[in-house]
Amino acid sequence: MPDQIDQAIIYARNHHSDFLSELKDFVSIPSVSTTPEYKQEMEKAAHKVAQMASSAGLENIQIYPTSGHPIVFGEWLHAKNQPTILIYGHYDVQPVDPVDLWETPPFQPSLRDQYFLGRGASDMKGQIVAVFAALQSIRHTTGSFPVNIKLMIEGEEEIGSPHLRTFIEDHRSMLSCDVSLNPDAGMIAPDLPTLVYALRGLVFFELKVFGPEHDLHSGVFGGVVHNPAQALCEIIASMHDENGRITIPGFYDHVRTLSLEEREELSRLPMGEDYYLQQTGAPQLWGEPDYTPVERIGARPTLEVNGLFSGFTGQGTKTVLPAYAMAKISCRIVADQEPDEIHRLLRHYLEQHIPSTVRWELNYFGGAPASITDPNHPAATAMKKALELVWKTRPLLKREGGSIPVVGDIQKILGADSVLTGFGLPDDRIHSPNERLHLPTWFKGIEALIAFFYLMKSNLQE
Ligand code: BES
Ligand code: MN
Repeated sequence: MPDQIDQAIIYARNHHSDFLSELKDFVSIPSVSTTPEYKQEMEKAAHKVAQMASSAGLENIQIYPTSGHPIVFGEWLHAKNQPTILIYGHYDVQPVDPVDLWETPPFQPSLRDQYFLGRGASDMKGQIVAVFAALQSIRHTTGSFPVNIKLMIEGEEEIGSPHLRTFIEDHRSMLSCDVSLNPDAGMIAPDLPTLVYALRGLVFFELKVFGPEHDLHSGVFGGVVHNPAQALCEIIASMHDENGRITIPGFYDHVRTLSLEEREELSRLPMGEDYYLQQTGAPQLWGEPDYTPVERIGARPTLEVNGLFSGFTGQGTKTVLPAYAMAKISCRIVADQEPDEIHRLLRHYLEQHIPSTVRWELNYFGGAPASITDPNHPAATAMKKALELVWKTRPLLKREGGSIPVVGDIQKILGADSVLTGFGLPDDRIHSPNERLHLPTWFKGIEALIAFFYLMKSNLQE
C-alpha cells in the first residue's frame, strides 16, 4: 500500500499545472449564492463540479435541483467490503464587496508569488479541486479507488444550507456512508496540519427600529423624539457587559463547559494573544477575560453586529433625525445551545428592554447548531496519519469558530461523523477582499488526501 500511495503522489506532483488550470476555470465562475443575479452562474458552477467529478472517475453523477441552488452528487461503489466515504463540499462563494479593495479582479484568478488569488480560492473551491486531484491521481495510477466514494457538493453553504437538510432526509440511502470527509475547515499555519473536531453553530437576525413616521429635521424635532439610530445603539450596547459577556438572561444556560483536560489540550495550540493581534491587526484584543482566545473562539458563544444602517451616510452633512434604523445580528453558538432557543431568548430580551418610544421588529432567519466530532474516530485517526505522513509532524487538534451547517445534519440524519480538515490558512482572507490560496500548502494537502483514502481502506472493519 505505501507503494501505491507513493505512485499516486508522484502522479499528483507531475500534474500540478493541470490541477491549477482546473482551479482557475472553477474560480472564474462567479458562484455567489446570496444574490439572485448569479443564478445562472450557480448552474454553471454545478456543471463544472459534475465535469470534474466525472474526470476524477466518479460515476452516476447527478445534478439535483432544489428550490435554491442545485446539489451535485456522484459515487464510486466498487470497493467490496470497504468503507464508504461521503465527501462534502460547497461550490458557492461569498459576495466580493467591497470590490474596490481587491488588488486583482475577484473572478479573474491570478498567481502571485506562492499564492493563487480569487474569490473562493480557499473557501472552498481550492479544497474541492484538491479532493478531485487526489481522486484522479489514485485512479490514474491504480485504475480504481481503495474505498467507496460518494460526493455531495452543494451551492448554499455560505447562506446557511437552507435546502440541504431536506435533501439529505429525502436521499438517506443514496447518501448513506460510514463517515463524511469535510475539507472545508482550514489549518493553523503552513507547517501545522490540523484536524478540526468542533465547529460553532450560527443564528441570524435582523432588528429594525422605527421612530417617527418619516425622517425629521433634527433641529425642529430633536430632543422630543427618541432617535431610532440611538435607540438601536442603546439596545445593542446593553447586550454585552464590560467583560464582553452577553447579558441576555439564559443565554449561557446550555453552554457545555470545557473539561480541564480539554482546556489543557487547547492551551498547547500556538495561538495566544499575540497570534490573534497579528492575524487581525486590531489594536487590542477583547472578550471574556476568564477564557483564552482559543477557548473564546472554539467553545464560547458570541453575539455579533454584522451591519448597521440608519439615516444619512453619504458625504458631507445632513441634519436629519432618521425614521428608521436596522442592524444585522448573528450569534455563534456552541454545544448544547439551539438556534430556536436563542431566538426565543433574544426576542424576550427585546420585549423587556426596548423602550416604548420606538417600535421594533425582529426577523429570524434560522440557523444551524454547533457540532462536535470524535477526534479518535477511526477516520479521524486515518486523517491524522495521512497529515503526519506528508507534513512529518503531529497534526494539531482544534476547535473551530466558524460554522459548517451540514456537519450537524449528517450526524443527525445519516448517523455519520465528519472528518474536518482543509488546506486553507487563517490569513487566506476568506470572505474578505483579496482571498487567496497558499499553493505549497495546497499541493501538500492533495498528497495528504491521497494518503487518507488509502489509509481508510479496511479502516472501519474491525
Ligand atoms: N469554510 C467556512 C467555515 C470555516 C472557516 C471553517 C474557517 C473553518 C475555518 C464556511 O464556508 C463558512 O464560512 N461558513 C459560514 C457559515 C454560514 C454562512 C452559515 C460561516 O462560518 O460564517
Ligand atoms: Mn467554506
